Amino acid sequence: MSTTHVVILAAGKGTRMKSADPKVLHHAGGLPLIEHVLRTADSLRPATTVVVVGHLGDRVKTALGKRLGLRFALQQPQLGTGHALLQAEPHLAGASGTVVLLSGDVPLLRAATLRALVDTHRARDAAATVLTARVTGPHEYGRIVREGGRIAAIVEHKDATPEQRRIDEINSGIYAFALEPLFAALKSIGAANAQGEYYLPDLVGIYRTQGRTVEAVLLDDSREILGVNSRRELADVTAILNTTRNDELMAAGVSIVDPASAWIGPDVVIGTDTVIHPNVYLEGRTTIGAGCEIHAGVRIVDSTIDDGAVINNYCVISESHVGRGARIGPFAHIRPQSDVGEGAHVGNFTELKKTTLGKGSKANHLSYLGDTTIGEKVNIGAGTITCNYDGVRKQQTVIEDGAFIGSDTQLIAPVTVHKGAYVGTGTTIREDVPAGALAVSAGKQRNIEGWVEKKKQR
Ligand code: UD1
Ligand code: CA
Repeated sequence: MSTTHVVILAAGKGTRMKSADPKVLHHAGGLPLIEHVLRTADSLRPATTVVVVGHLGDRVKTALGKRLGLRFALQQPQLGTGHALLQAEPHLAGASGTVVLLSGDVPLLRAATLRALVDTHRARDAAATVLTARVTGPHEYGRIVREGGRIAAIVEHKDATPEQRRIDEINSGIYAFALEPLFAALKSIGAANAQGEYYLPDLVGIYRTQGRTVEAVLLDDSREILGVNSRRELADVTAILNTTRNDELMAAGVSIVDPASAWIGPDVVIGTDTVIHPNVYLEGRTTIGAGCEIHAGVRIVDSTIDDGAVINNYCVISESHVGRGARIGPFAHIRPQSDVGEGAHVGNFTELKKTTLGKGSKANHLSYLGDTTIGEKVNIGAGTITCNYDGVRKQQTVIEDGAFIGSDTQLIAPVTVHKGAYVGTGTTIREDVPAGALAVSAGKQRNIEGWVEKKKQR
């Protein structure tokens, strides 16, 4: 078994994006473009993975910093794709095997296609194997020039004759190379062309002149090698990734009412018979159980929603857990480190932050509950506010099982309402409430008879 090394080119300027950010960090299908490429590369289990960075290279490096074992080569200045690959040479010194060259801006390539490219390359014992595709309409790809049916050279669009521009077989920019002759040959590439760059595709002509074997593998679906050079292409790729993702989920038993407007990240897991309504965003490491209903306009990030939960319209949930059969929203905000218990209810205009709402408890209207631990079967009345911040520190509120908090209550933390206690409407709680007690703080009501009439006379 021959060793595989992957080199990913990501040093280019990406001028056509008109962006202050590196092109390969733009997102499509819930991931930066280059992350899609890296995941596909990982499927080859490469011995080495080198990312060639240059323009805004530090940003790219930082963004990929969490990936272990990744190596970076710096290309400065950026003198073309051939020059870019050359920068990976120190990382591959003394190695042997196959170098797979990928572009950081070509995110739709499938693992199976890449596998087939490498397998053909090895079976034919080629020096280079190019992944090609047939496309229709005007385009700026390099053209595959064949002689007697075999690939003879690649001519860049800008350098091509009108006749060559009519060739509909194009270079995907994805290749497999035998490592042994690669770097010596790269050094013989010149830059006498329309763009004054060292073109990697020139290697094909060089190898053919040297009598080496060059192969081409023709793709069935040219969409797989769509490169992102502009915002338009970014949107096209995003739409394709979304269709693929949603088709996969629907095939696995998830109902998606309007697949064009359901945005579900690649690492999201969803159980069967869950219904996803329009304009829903499910992101990051989110898991949704079976038989859930996720209504329109909901955004869920890095959270776990258990079976049978209902998330009503326009809720935002992040880094939190929602228990089995719980009901959230509409218009609820569940902020990080919150835990809504089994069968609990969080109603409209209620915000939770670092708060546990126990099994069967309810906070149905207009409340802020922060840094709070709420037990089971607690009722939180409308307009309840935990005053968790004294301007310096965040403090804890504890509300034990079975407590009843009347509407318009303020709980000034740190404070505990013990088991089964009641808090009267409009109370400001500054001290702990013992189990079974009723706490009230509002004064006795006074009615001033005839006050309105007197006011009019004044
Ligand atoms: C390239 C190919 C073209 C092919 C097309 C497929 C060349 C000369 N042309 O054209 O035949 O049809 O891809 O998408 O290779 N990069 C660097 N350093 C550089 C220049 C580019 O790292 O100095 C990187 C870019 O960041 C990008 C990739 O190489 O990831 C391709 O470069 P790009 O400028 O997009 O090449 P294309 O014009 O698309
Ligand atoms: Ca490109």
